[in-house]
Order: sequence, then C-alpha cells, then structure tokens
Amino acid sequence: MNFIYFLAILGLLAANLAAAAIPTEPDASNHPCTHLACFDPINHGLNHGITNSTLQPGKANLLLTNEEGWAEKRIRVFYEWLADYGHDVIISSPPFHNPSTKDRARPPRKLESTECQYKSCPGEKGKKTGFNATDPRLNWVNAEPATGVKYGVEEIWPRFQGNGSVGGIDMVLVGPAVGANRAFEHRHSGTTGAAVYAAKKLGIPSIAFAGWNHKRRAWNRESDPSQEIYASMALNLTNRILANGKPYLPPNVLLNVNFPRIDKRHCSHLNFKYVLTAPMLSGILPQKDIPICRSKKLPAECVVVRRQTFDTCYVSISPMDAKSKGVAKLKEQREVLKALEGTLSCYPYQSEWKEFWTSVGCALRFWEWK
Ligand SMILES: *[C@@H]1O[C@H](CO)[C@@H](O)[C@H](O)[C@H]1NC(C)=O
Ligand SMILES: *[C@@H]1O[C@H](CO)[C@@H](O)[C@H](O)[C@H]1NC(C)=O
Ligand SMILES: *[C@@H]1O[C@H](CO)[C@@H](O)[C@H](O)[C@H]1NC(C)=O
Ligand SMILES: *[C@@H]1O[C@H](CO)[C@@H](O)[C@H](O)[C@H]1NC(C)=O
Repeated sequence: MNFIYFLAILGLLAANLAAAAIPTEPDASNHPCTHLACFDPINHGLNHGITNSTLQPGKANLLLTNEEGWAEKRIRVFYEWLADYGHDVIISSPPFHNPSTKDRARPPRKLESTECQYKSCPGEKGKKTGFNATDPRLNWVNAEPATGVKYGVEEIWPRFQGNGSVGGIDMVLVGPAVGANRAFEHRHSGTTGAAVYAAKKLGIPSIAFAGWNHKRRAWNRESDPSQEIYASMALNLTNRILANGKPYLPPNVLLNVNFPRIDKRHCSHLNFKYVLTAPMLSGILPQKDIPICRSKKLPAECVVVRRQTFDTCYVSISPMDAKSKGVAKLKEQREVLKALEGTLSCYPYQSEWKEFWTSVGCALRFWEWK
C-alpha cells in the first residue's frame, strides 16, 4: 500500500477516535465558562438561553417549508406553534421527501403516483400542486423545497392577502429537518438549499432548522415530546430575531440551526444554550471569526450539537454565506450577533487541539448523519 494512503487512513482513524471521545453522555465536567462572570464585557451581552420573554414580536408573515414533505409530523407541529402564537403562516413543501435538490427551483412536475406521502393527498394524481381543502394554508408543490419557497412566495401567499397586494413574506423558515444537518451535508441538503434560495434569490431572511432525532412520522399521528420541544425552541428563536427588528438578518446570510438529540438519556433536563458556531471545520479555515467567548474561532456546529454536560445541552446556530455555503464573513457575523442579541451563550471550550480533532472526527462520522 502506498505510504501516503497509509498515513491518511491512520489520520482518519485517529480523528474518529477523537470524535468518539466527545462526551455525549452526561458528565460532570465543571468548565469555568458556565457563568456570566467569565464573559468578556465586549461579548455583546451574551446570556443564558432566550431569557427576555417580554420581548414579544408582533405577528409576522412566514413561509414554512421542509425537505421531508408537507405531511411530516415535525413541520406540522412547528406550523401549529407558529400559528398558535399568532403568526400568519403557510406551508409550501414537496409532497414527498425530496432530498436531492440543491438551491435550484425547477418548475413543479405532475404527480406520477396516486398518493402523496402517508396517503396525504388521495386522488390528486396528475396535479402539480395541491392543498388541504379544510386548511388551505397547507400546500404541497411537487418539486424541490426551493421551488416550494419560490412558488409559495409568488403564487400561494398572495391568495392570503385578501386583496392580493399587501405585505410580503417576512421570513422563510425551513424544517425542522428530521435528523441533523451539518458539516459536508450542507452542500447537498434540500433543507439548506431552500434557505439559501430564499436568502440569495429572493432576498428574504431565512433560517434552516434541524432536530437530531431521526424518526419520521405521519402528520395525523401523535407527536412525541421531542417534536414539541424542537418546535417551541424554533418558535422562540424566530420570535427573538423578529423582536430584535429589521432587517432581521444581513443580506445573503442565512442561519443553520441544529437542535440536539432529545430522549430519556439525552438532554432530558431540557436546559438548552444557544451557541454561535461555524458550519464546517472552522478550525482549519483561514477565515477570521468574530472573537467571542475568549476564542478567535467559532466552534464547529457538529461538535457543539453533540456536546452534553450534566445539566446543559447546546443548540448550534451557524451564520452561513448563501453564496459560498461556508461560514458568513466577519462583517456579517457582527450583524448576526446583533440579530441574535439576548440569545447566545458561551460554549465550554476544550483545548484548541482537541476542538480541532473532534471537529474533524465529527465531520467524518457520516453514518450518523441520517
Ligand atoms: C426585556 O425587553 C424589554 C423590551 O425591549 C426591555 O424593556 C427590558 O428591559 C428587557 N429586560 C431584560 C431583563 O433585559
Ligand atoms: C387537513 O386539515 C384538517 C384540518 O386541519 C386536518 O384534520 C387534516 O388531517 C388535514 N389533512 C392533511 C393531509 O393535511
Ligand atoms: C387589503 O388587505 C389588508 C390585509 O387584509 C388590509 O389591511 C387592507 O386594508 C386591504 N386593502 C384594501 C384596499 O382592501
Ligand atoms: C420558549 O419561550 C417560552 C417563554 O419564554 C418558555 O416558557 C419556553 O420554555 C421556551 N421553550 C423552550 C423549549 O425553551
């Protein structure tokens, strides 16, 4: 075997071992940076969790899409939470799981089978789009999620404006996707693609959410607690950004948000902190990051979302450049920090060396991705 290959394989193995060492089980590690006193005052008023509940925004016009399909329980639960809060929201999603995609919006195609997923649109074969007759805010568009965004903004939303003229979509929300959305996956994720399309092609602020738990479920089944928790967190974060005011996010920047695994053994304490992260292997990128939390580099979302201490789990929020799909530039990171004011916490850093290797290893654990 070629010696270089041998070395490369050895490197990958080492990286995986390092990733395996990330404590995903509760540990009692008591890192110094878990209380406000250790924050630098220039850290823009970071605090613990989304605390200021008096900061409630007015109702917004929201478009919700996903890649798993319009009848997936997770998007329907999020829809209910948004609507119950009082937001004006429509769903515009593919009729089936449509992961292929990227950020192109090809025209809708005719439905070839007689059924959408979970038998959710009986007798609609041959149609390109459709909706729930009882609740016409629930729409399917037979194409990739990015088309759901385009078609939703241009064709569906105006129907709900009564006179067809007022108030555009304020924000495009995607997901929460079923399963984590991280590292190299961004390049071929319909979830990210839809948010990229909204930010880049339509100039609408967008957030892509994903929740680690992988279980698919039909819209008409009972929800499990994790679905409700993901939806509640996604609503709180959306509200916080809306409340912090326009333009919500800088142009051509989207947020990629990952919620951690939630079950009896993971994050059952329901104590979450929100951390600003980089979508890729931030440690090896030459890119300059905003210096917060005593580090010159943003931690990698992949590591952050797997981290769990005895009383805290972490939600990763990565500001992404819609053009490069890498981490947003320094100037945009500063604007994102303002948009997220009152939300972010510091992350208990490991040593730089350990951060680097765990992020490499974490990115390589592709079998965990779906
Ligand atoms: C919460 O937000 C309101 C409205 O902006 C502000 O008046 C209040 O001081 C904030 N409270 C805290 C604890 O930050
Ligand atoms: C359509 O909406 C009604 C009322 O909200 C609901 O009971 C029904 O399950 C929905 N069906 C689908 C496929 O969305
Ligand atoms: C159009 O609809 C909006 C929202 O329903 C309403 O505020 C506005 O007054 C309407 N305009 C006209 C001319 O009817
Ligand atoms: C969302 O915010 C509300 C109000 O501040 C809070 O009661 C709730 O626990 C939050 N949800 C989550 C999952 O943190």
